[in-house]
Amino acid sequence: MNVSRRKFLAGTAAVTTAATAAVVATPHDGDAASGPPPSRRVDAREKVTGDLRYASDRLLPGTAHAVYAVATIGKGRLLEVNTKAAEAAPGVRLVLTRVDVKPPGFLQGGGHAFQSLQPLTSDRIAYRGQHIALVVADSLHAATEAAALITARYEAEPIAVEIDAPGAQKVRQSDVLPTAHDVVAGNAPSAFAAAPVKIDHEYESPQSHPVPMELIASVVQWDGDDLTIYEGTQNASAVQNGLALQLGISPERIEVLSPSVGGAFGQKNSLQTHLAPVAVAARRLGRPIKVVVPRTQTFHNASFRPASHHRIRLGADRSGRMLAAMHDVDQQTSRHDYFPAVYTELTSRLYGITNYGSQQNLVRTDVQTPGFMRAPYESPGTFAFESAVDELSYALGKDPVALRLANDTAVDPISGHPFSSRYLADTLRRGSRKFGWSERSAAPGSMRGRDGSLIGWGVAAGAYKAATAPATARLRLIPAGRTYHATIWVDGHEMGQGIRSAVARLVAEDLQLRLEHIEVGVGDTRGVPPQHLTAGSWGTATALPAVYAALKELRKKLGLGAKGPVPSGRGETIVLARSRAPGQPEAIHDRAAQGLPAGAGPEYPEFTAFSFVSHFVEVRVEPTTRRIRVPRVVSTVDCGKVASPRTAESQVRGGVIWGIGAALRERSEVDERFGGFANPTLEEYVVPVNADIGRIDVGLIDKPDFNLNPVGVKGLGEVVMVGVAAAVANAVFHATGRRVRHLPIRLEDVL
Ligand code: MOS
Repeated sequence: MNVSRRKFLAGTAAVTTAATAAVVATPHDGDAASGPPPSRRVDAREKVTGDLRYASDRLLPGTAHAVYAVATIGKGRLLEVNTKAAEAAPGVRLVLTRVDVKPPGFLQGGGHAFQSLQPLTSDRIAYRGQHIALVVADSLHAATEAAALITARYEAEPIAVEIDAPGAQKVRQSDVLPTAHDVVAGNAPSAFAAAPVKIDHEYESPQSHPVPMELIASVVQWDGDDLTIYEGTQNASAVQNGLALQLGISPERIEVLSPSVGGAFGQKNSLQTHLAPVAVAARRLGRPIKVVVPRTQTFHNASFRPASHHRIRLGADRSGRMLAAMHDVDQQTSRHDYFPAVYTELTSRLYGITNYGSQQNLVRTDVQTPGFMRAPYESPGTFAFESAVDELSYALGKDPVALRLANDTAVDPISGHPFSSRYLADTLRRGSRKFGWSERSAAPGSMRGRDGSLIGWGVAAGAYKAATAPATARLRLIPAGRTYHATIWVDGHEMGQGIRSAVARLVAEDLQLRLEHIEVGVGDTRGVPPQHLTAGSWGTATALPAVYAALKELRKKLGLGAKGPVPSGRGETIVLARSRAPGQPEAIHDRAAQGLPAGAGPEYPEFTAFSFVSHFVEVRVEPTTRRIRVPRVVSTVDCGKVASPRTAESQVRGGVIWGIGAALRERSEVDERFGGFANPTLEEYVVPVNADIGRIDVGLIDKPDFNLNPVGVKGLGEVVMVGVAAAVANAVFHATGRRVRHLPIRLEDVL
């Protein structure tokens, strides 16, 4: 146990000591001393000045640098790795081709890592780009140069990388993952057969990769038998517990510090497989080691969004009431893990369709295990479903907004429970007003710009489960002259989404403290353990209830009323509080403590909880080049209470921009002759740039959901992306009359 660190965090040392995980707000704004604080990002100044420290910014004395060499076949057996030249290269301290560590276990299979396969533990090559050797040298240049000198001999095997490649193996999900039920309600096949108006189409979403600005990276330091990991992660406790299992040591010996993450999006949601060999090397060398997985390697040694194919069947009566829906899915996975397909959880709840059927299949391919990428199921799932709803609107001759409003529901058609709150209709009404939807002429190709460009207006709805996880918060109030300084440590990770800002704002508002007197610590196992996975848009809805409970506890301890500032003259006070999702047993905290996912939702004992969104999109298609541009988007979100308006707005913009990227740009290209992904750089993996983005009008409904938690917050980070790609595709149809049922939509699709 790192006693000295624990002591510091228990509050006996000065809080001003450099706490990597804490950001002290700087006093540069004009906060009023009482009333709701202005909304701002508490780490904005550090971010824009480059002061904010990311994990790999840690420069420890004597640090060595590690670089991996990778497999150059698509699959097969490693016969020999030739490390001689690398070992002889200047500055090289160590080359490892095998390590004796345990398998990390797949996050979705009771383990801690993004996949079950641990490179450098056997001669199996499962995918191109798999790590085969680790080079450690005195400098990054020396390690990079030496890694390039490593050669290998292989026995290659035939591969199938893409979901529809010959050799890809399809299995029914319910056969291999018994807990993954297909959502079924009523009798969809017979209701569909009897419906007077029918839609039956297939839609395709490609494999794609998140490209967060901060690369996956770790700084690893041993101090005797104690190990400290600096790594940008969404799941410090999984790194801690998973690595402990791999190395065969107690998790108590490991601390993980994830001070600020430069984007994660699901790719940093678990133990990475680059880490264990580096920990072994650092121990052997007796030096800290820094490893930054280069962009090209993150395309193969970290998770990605799998390809998915969807068949949507919709049946309606002539008035536009939807009578039946069937959503069948084939989703890519790896050969060594079954990454679950959970697409129908949402599409079965978007409307009040009482007859719903689905079958989800997994397709085993020769890739690393895919995983969660922002709105992992919901973005591709709604591209399919909300495209089909648009097709239905044309088949019925009914306005697509009116069609959606007519099929709204207050009751979850699957469980029969009410929604905890649901303002989807409000988002549609407010959005259509702001967008000017009533000016739309319905016929495809009927609207033109002054320059002759085809104008298309499209709409789509979206939702994302309002999930919650257990959390712990520790609040420390310290007298500071006539006011107080508050330090709050809470379970959560700052990935740039603004969790520190949301936490600070809640504390500031409750205690009527200025933001600069509040220090927020997250992502650090030395703070309040566990630092459970922050994902699935449950960060704010998980951290804030624990912070709220700590504030209540503080008021109780100080004998204060429910409101008002702390009167001056009180001594230092420390309180600890815990919270968990509705219906979760107390024991859920133990599961979180083991670094295992412990989230709940969307179904709770008494209600079903989702956040909702609608997007209105204008596209303009140039008549000659057919270039598609998106000059404006109106997005309106129901995320419960808005905890932090400034960062919430930023979340919406980011989600919309990514949705435009999914609609018009992104695809990880595959060449079946070689395996792996062929465009693993920011030059070749095309994402939207500034010039691609026009006006994004953000609307926030801001109605608290007190069924879900006492703060009234639901999720926000992912729902904002859901439906954007569908709205773009629907606008492209309205502009051109071309229904494109695959992503991304490129020039050749509308020529
Ligand atoms: Mo998110 S894709 O659950 O980090």
